[in-house]
Amino acid sequence: MAKSPLIESFERAGQGHVFAFFDQLAPADQQRLLADAAEIDLAEIEQLTRTLLAKGAATGINLDGLAPAPYEPRPEHGGDAPAWASAKIAGETALRAGRVAAFTVAGGQGTRLGYDGPKGTYPVTPVKKKTLFQVFAEKILAAGVRYGKPLHWFIMTSHANHAATEAFFTEHAFFGLDRGRVHFFRQGRMPAVDLNGKILLETKASIAMSPDGHGGSLRALDRSGALDLMAKEGIDILSYFQVDNPLVRGIDPTFVGWHVLGGSEMSSKMVAKAYAGEKVGHFCTQNGQTLVIEYSDLPKEYQEEIDPATGKLRYLAGSIAIHILDTHFIRRMAAGGEGVALPFHRADKKIPTVDAAGNPVKPDKPNGVKFEMFVFDALPFAKNPVIIETRREDDFSPVKNAEGLDSPKTCRDDQIRQFVRWLKANGASVPADATGLAPFAIEVSPTFGYDEDSFADAWKKLSPKPEIKDGLYLSA
Ligand code: UD1
Repeated sequence: MAKSPLIESFERAGQGHVFAFFDQLAPADQQRLLADAAEIDLAEIEQLTRTLLAKGAATGINLDGLAPAPYEPRPEHGGDAPAWASAKIAGETALRAGRVAAFTVAGGQGTRLGYDGPKGTYPVTPVKKKTLFQVFAEKILAAGVRYGKPLHWFIMTSHANHAATEAFFTEHAFFGLDRGRVHFFRQGRMPAVDLNGKILLETKASIAMSPDGHGGSLRALDRSGALDLMAKEGIDILSYFQVDNPLVRGIDPTFVGWHVLGGSEMSSKMVAKAYAGEKVGHFCTQNGQTLVIEYSDLPKEYQEEIDPATGKLRYLAGSIAIHILDTHFIRRMAAGGEGVALPFHRADKKIPTVDAAGNPVKPDKPNGVKFEMFVFDALPFAKNPVIIETRREDDFSPVKNAEGLDSPKTCRDDQIRQFVRWLKANGASVPADATGLAPFAIEVSPTFGYDEDSFADAWKKLSPKPEIKDGLYLSA
């Protein structure tokens, strides 16, 4: 039988070992291996090997001319109150015109949380134990009602969790959303390579493939046809958030408005870092461009530096992974071309593989490299990027770890604090400790109020007002 051109291309690229066991495999396994191989862009792997893996390749980042990025402070921190008010009006107009869609990146694996299913199926709310997906779905549903335009919602999954994610939505009748407006698509994958750039097999019949990072969303939005659908629907503003953060105002008119009025191609929210070593990205500028530098890449002395003028951290602006992307910009980034592509980051990992005889190997130290793209690396390419300040308590309390910081417990408490704040702001009396936490669990359904404004409107109309006690659940 003639050799497949795909196998020949791997041989030419010095990756022929991928098919070392091919002749021993059953036909179905051969097909599986060929399908894995067909996903790989060999030229890209060759280029990454030359750059990221080369001996003496620059590790660490270039700090020349680095400075903190400017941002729009909130009015209570000296920001321009009329500009904030105008932004809100502009954002509401864009929402009423149907220009905005929601976008959740949900391709990651909940490894740190120790949870097996798709992370979005993890229960998080204080009383009803609603899942992350349900919280987002209800916020999107409620925003559609408020602005008189049902929103489209794009959800990026991975190979590992795509089917389970779709099944979960079907099982829950899409939480009341119009299923024609919920769109799932899978992100791309990259092969892991050994330290010499040779593609690693996971088994004799499969390549060690892993998701290409949330930055892969830009390519995947294009490839999946999502951008075409948006163009057809008149959507040009994509509101991006991570699956781990139920507090996020996925549809925030003020943020949308800053993006629109700024003529921005990519906008981001920042919070003041809670402490110097907080594990978030840092908004910076360099050579006139805006960029995010991960906590793991920014030297400690930068993270801790104090600005003498303010007495605060100089690199204060932390990225909470909430962005707005212009759809034309996404298309441009996805098309790539000279100098217009997201860079890959290298992560050295212990990657289960097979030895030369095909026996499984479980390494006890890193034996290979995974490649990932980060969405915030698009910022330097964006025209007029806008960064606005947000209050942490309004937008950010992720579930990342099983215990301690950013855990289900801290997230539950932050949700309760938010509901307490909304109730108090509208004249209700609620017992709470010095941190604003009630001594019992209460919950506000997003269908009742999903942000300060919608809550205030619903609460005003509510008669009689309910007793505020353990287990209170307000819903539409
Ligand atoms: C991330 C950000 C960090 C930010 C913090 C805020 C990176 C590298 N860092 O950290 O700057 O301050 O969130 O919470 O992103 N995902 C995919 N596909 C992938 C990988 C991830 O969809 O291939 C999704 C995950 O489902 C999740 C999100 O991206 O929704 C974040 O991924 P994660 O790896 O948990 O990022 P963090 O290290 O927590």
